[in-house]
Amino acid sequence: MVARAATVATLGSPDGALEVSVTLDSDGRPGYAVSRRGEPVIAESRLGFILANAPKLERNFRLEHSATRSHDETWEQPWGERRFVRDHYNELRISLVEKTALARRLDVVFRAHDSGIGFRYEFPEQPELTDVGITEELTEFAVAEPATAWWIPAGDWNRYEYLYQKTPLAEVGQAHTPITLRTASGLHLAIHEAALVDYSSMWLRRSGAGQRLKAALSPSATGPRVQRRAPFATPWRTIQIAPDAAGLYMSDLILNLNEPNALGDVSWFKPYKYVGIWWSLHLDTETWGTGPRHGATTANAKRYIDFAAANGFRGVLIEGWNRGWDGNWFADGSEFSFTEPTPDFDLEAVAAYAKKRGVHLVGHHETAGNVARYEEQLGAALDLYQRLGIDSVKTGYVADAGGIRAREADGSIRYEWHDGQFMSRHHLKVVTEAAKRHIAVNPHEPIKDTGLRRTYPNWVAREGARGMEYNAWGNPPNPPEHEANLVFTRMLAGPFDLTPGVLSLTGRGGQKIQSTIAKQLALYVVIYSPIEMVADLPENYAKYPGPFQFIKDVPSDWADTRVLGGEVGDYATIARKDRNSEDWYLGAVTDENARTIRVALDFLDAGKSYTAEIYRDGDDADWNTNPHAIVIEKRPVKSNDSLALRLAAGGGLAIRFKSAR
Ligand code: NOJ
Ligand code: CA
Repeated sequence: MVARAATVATLGSPDGALEVSVTLDSDGRPGYAVSRRGEPVIAESRLGFILANAPKLERNFRLEHSATRSHDETWEQPWGERRFVRDHYNELRISLVEKTALARRLDVVFRAHDSGIGFRYEFPEQPELTDVGITEELTEFAVAEPATAWWIPAGDWNRYEYLYQKTPLAEVGQAHTPITLRTASGLHLAIHEAALVDYSSMWLRRSGAGQRLKAALSPSATGPRVQRRAPFATPWRTIQIAPDAAGLYMSDLILNLNEPNALGDVSWFKPYKYVGIWWSLHLDTETWGTGPRHGATTANAKRYIDFAAANGFRGVLIEGWNRGWDGNWFADGSEFSFTEPTPDFDLEAVAAYAKKRGVHLVGHHETAGNVARYEEQLGAALDLYQRLGIDSVKTGYVADAGGIRAREADGSIRYEWHDGQFMSRHHLKVVTEAAKRHIAVNPHEPIKDTGLRRTYPNWVAREGARGMEYNAWGNPPNPPEHEANLVFTRMLAGPFDLTPGVLSLTGRGGQKIQSTIAKQLALYVVIYSPIEMVADLPENYAKYPGPFQFIKDVPSDWADTRVLGGEVGDYATIARKDRNSEDWYLGAVTDENARTIRVALDFLDAGKSYTAEIYRDGDDADWNTNPHAIVIEKRPVKSNDSLALRLAAGGGLAIRFKSAR
């Protein structure tokens, strides 16, 4: 607790609703608090660090200087949920200096946006603090009211691939971010971070009694959790604050706190949909490894290329194309070659065939967490893809938390965490090496998203949650509430390669997917990614030509996004405008409860006529008893109309609003 603290500076958001107060207590310990319309949101919370081989950096401070500035700019995304993003904030810089002989300095920079607060530490260049080893970050978030929390555990073996838990905040253990909270008075908060560069991920551990969360940095195998040389800045610590769940999703705070595009012209990446040799592997009807059921054969790849070309999908992912999958690949990934195809897969011929059919292969680099081996081959692997016109790569890090193999200077192996400082560096190495060759990157078993797509727009998507694969073999599979949880938790971080569209609604050995067919369509609108997989088998799409039409039509790049309604874990209704036409799309998903969604169509252009192509759950649809019941119908609509449509238990709704041309 911060005792007997005095406020030394304050900062308000542009609309005046949010206020940050910075405090120093009688021991010179810095803290901060946040209020909204005069009511406390974050009570006094500590700031500071415990360092390796140096005294703690957390007390005996005095305020040397503070400075404020304002910023209001609208910037354009090369691709995204909306084309234009307004970055409007007031900023406060607090320059602290120790009153002790060391007189070390630490700056804290706060930004107040209308949709939330960001702050970061900056370590200035200084003689008494050059090599900084951070053992612990003391940052706290003391939530002022009791709250309900939606969260997944951090530090556990399966990384981010857990079901969301809903508990009182006071019962959270150690959580990943974003963590989403609804306070007793109904306010919605999400705590996360932005611009995680050369630093360890922030987990949140509940500390003491009640609602206080404290930063816990992901571990490092080399001692301190972060090692840097001053000057440097930490990632931004973020608190999104909104009156409702929709407001959290509509906030651009995370993107705005990232640096602008560092890659220049990135028009070489355009959002797309892709098919691939993938779902069959998870069903175990085909295999990654070679043998009689090998998926990645030349003939099978051509079949998928034909399927993509016939239906207008740009990408074809082929997993299991390379050497190293035979045997126990996930044990250590030590056999993986990222340049040598298996004997039954003619990579050159397949790439040439794709080119002829006007589609693009999506590369695949599964590392099994053996980053040491991957980094040795990275340049050659990306050069090969560039030469063959393969302009995206899905990477993979299947290994338990703490099982990432990193190369020591002496050649030996040490074990790192998926979200520690080592991996924050590794991912940026892959992304920047790929960018040099105009290749987009989509890591699975990744480090979490903190908005770096703004700075590196070829970092287009990632996993980092339970995706569709859990519906093939997960025990349990994803429950009906999963996507309504994701929208207001994981999706606050950025694009997710969920891989929707499994219209068969059947996993391995006939396991039921807990979704209706209409919900599979809705996911293309609700769960944002600039690359969207069309994940089911070609032969399954042939069985559902009606619903398949929506998957062919739906874009993956948007001019605008509106959350029309939603409650965390219950339902979400999102409308998005196509970036390349005047059409709008709507997706809605519900949990295990059927509900009627009422939407005013006032997002449509006034005066324009549209045809609503509606894909709704059949009247007797239910994920468990009648999942394939769907009604596809057309209605003329205008912006002053409204719709009331029923979602089944585990159901969804997808609409294309086709503008009259
Ligand atoms: C896990 C990924 O999430 C999945 O999409 C992929 O097929 C396997 N790893 C194999 O790389
Ligand atoms: Ca995975």
